[in-house]
Amino acid sequence: MTRRKQIKWAIIGLVAVALTGWITSSWGRWFGNEPELPYTVPTVPDRITLCYGPDAQHDRCLTWRCDTIQHAYAVELRTPTDSMMLPASSVRVESRAGFQYFYRCELYGLMENATYRYRLCSETDTTAWHAFVMAERTDSIRFMVLGDIQDSVGGDSPDLLRMASERLGTMDFYAFVGDMIERPTDRYWQMFYSSIDPFCDSIPLMVCTGNHDYLKGIYKTIDPRWRHTFGTPLNGPDRFMGRSYYVDFTDMRFIVIDTDALQLPWEYAAARSWVSNVLQQSTKHWNVVLMHHPLHSASIGRDNPTMRWAFRSLFEGEHGPDLVLAGHDHSYMRWAAETAPLYMVLTTATKDYLSKSDPGAAKVACGHRLYQQVVVTPQAIALSSYLAETGELYDSVRIEKQTGTPAVIRDLGQHIAERIDLPHRFSGKDGSRVKKFRKLRSRRASEPGRNVVFED
Ligand SMILES: [Fe+2]
Repeated sequence: MTRRKQIKWAIIGLVAVALTGWITSSWGRWFGNEPELPYTVPTVPDRITLCYGPDAQHDRCLTWRCDTIQHAYAVELRTPTDSMMLPASSVRVESRAGFQYFYRCELYGLMENATYRYRLCSETDTTAWHAFVMAERTDSIRFMVLGDIQDSVGGDSPDLLRMASERLGTMDFYAFVGDMIERPTDRYWQMFYSSIDPFCDSIPLMVCTGNHDYLKGIYKTIDPRWRHTFGTPLNGPDRFMGRSYYVDFTDMRFIVIDTDALQLPWEYAAARSWVSNVLQQSTKHWNVVLMHHPLHSASIGRDNPTMRWAFRSLFEGEHGPDLVLAGHDHSYMRWAAETAPLYMVLTTATKDYLSKSDPGAAKVACGHRLYQQVVVTPQAIALSSYLAETGELYDSVRIEKQTGTPAVIRDLGQHIAERIDLPHRFSGKDGSRVKKFRKLRSRRASEPGRNVVFED
């Protein structure tokens, strides 16, 4: 063997060893799952959750969990003038360390401007009364949207949601951009419910899957509890039923896309085709998309070219949505645009990533948790972002549209300083990512007209 060939084989050998080492050391992180500890299931209903049916003006769906024995549950539903018993369906749901029964009851054709009281009745038990209000047909819809929650056990998201709800008042619904749980185990589900229990039996949730709601693997699978925990409308494509769906309001279509299900080329094609149809067939003045993976990523090391490939031309085409809400990146970003769609990346998690301070962004934040209020009227979608720590207004934007004319985006948050702080988890670290973060932040801070403040 010539010396040249020896060198070539030595290099190939070294690369193979390095590759094997890298794959072996990363395998658990890529494909391994945190074990689920055994858990007990209450013998009375818990995790009682209200979602919208396909028509938000008239349809609701209730779901709950109860026991490891199947019961015959019904919802006793009352208005001041009427009372009815509606049977619920049940399903045995097995997770890695236990099983339970979930129940679902669709309440369709409800009256507007009415308060409904309900309780859950089995052959042996009856819960306390709960209630929800059906809004009057009005010109305004108001909701709170939150980024990834992913609370650790004993985390402070319950406090955050309580304070946000107290500051902003009653909402029509709460929307979550996915990763509501840190990992698919019962105790993380319990953490999520400790945040939403104060309102989830009476105010509908609009939920989206995230990668943390999936079990990792070479081919990821959704936590089997997800579909039965939330009574989302079953109007999506077969492959993503209950996880990709849409809800119609008076003047808005709200479209949720399960981006984590998109792992194979034909899955992207199926999702794109469905989204295209749902957008084209919409007769609503406003169309809003909720998806976990953003088209424009906010943090260093994050990019989703396949999402842009699948959806960008749709979103920026003739029937595109007005607003696209996403999460996943654990830093905040409002993409700069003068016309719709407005792309937002939201974060409500305690775990912060390093913002890439993208020059294409109109506003970014790093090292801070935020919550958003969105008010939809015939004239505008007004979105306000608040710092979770203090409740201070951090960002404000309006999407304005007259019937038959393109939507225009008005930036009302430029005058508020951007806070691009080094997250606590990176304090004292000086690796290449932190250096890159500081460099990109400096570049942004030096741009004319920028108002950037930061702490390290
Ligand atoms: Fe995520």
